[in-house]
Amino acid sequence: MTDRTEALIPRARAQVADCAVHLPDWLRLEQQRELLAACHDWARPPAGMRTVSLPSGGMMSVRMVCLGWHWHPYRYSRTVDEGAAVRPFPDWLGEVGRRAVAEAYQDPVAGAAYRPDVALVNYYDSTAKMGLHQDRDEHSREPVVSLSLGDDCVFRFGNCRTRTRPWTDVLLRSGDLFVFGGPSRMAYHGVPKILPGTGDPAVGLAGGRLNVTLRVSGLTD
Ligand code: SIN
Ligand code: MN
Repeated sequence: MTDRTEALIPRARAQVADCAVHLPDWLRLEQQRELLAACHDWARPPAGMRTVSLPSGGMMSVRMVCLGWHWHPYRYSRTVDEGAAVRPFPDWLGEVGRRAVAEAYQDPVAGAAYRPDVALVNYYDSTAKMGLHQDRDEHSREPVVSLSLGDDCVFRFGNCRTRTRPWTDVLLRSGDLFVFGGPSRMAYHGVPKILPGTGDPAVGLAGGRLNVTLRVSGLTD
């Protein structure tokens, strides 16, 4: 269990790399509960939460539902594998993205201009991981906005050149915001570890971690 006394101590905003910013405790408890309720809705079929097969023949350990555009490794389309239309990307989530960019970069103009049209919602059970990768299937280099719910994880934020060090390990907790763009947009990143049982029960996620990333696809139909 999380040490709730520790949870009362505010964690500091951190600039992890150029234009890569961690804002701890960005979503209030009520906002986390609302985002979780939306994730539960999005997870339902059709075009709901699913396992993801990789072209290599393997399977990702996270399960995923997409909004706006469906991500298949390694391309986007308007339909999921069974042919159903991808769920729409809601306007309110775009507003969350604009506020996120404005606050992460302390730049209201950049925030107002941000127009995300894709969300990937990843569910990690206690053993799921995500290897170091670049978000490279978007045709736009606008920032990625990441929101976390549930259990804590180690989020590894590397460099744009190689999948190896240097990297920084950041503890992402429920309600945290992480934004990466600009010179860090193509940085390798991943989730080597979930810390089971660390989530605040008040958020309402029984176990595991949800991560919602907002992106600008740069795609048109
Ligand atoms: C991702 O890279 O798409 C997800 C990162 C995370 O789960 O924090
Ligand atoms: Mn990614």
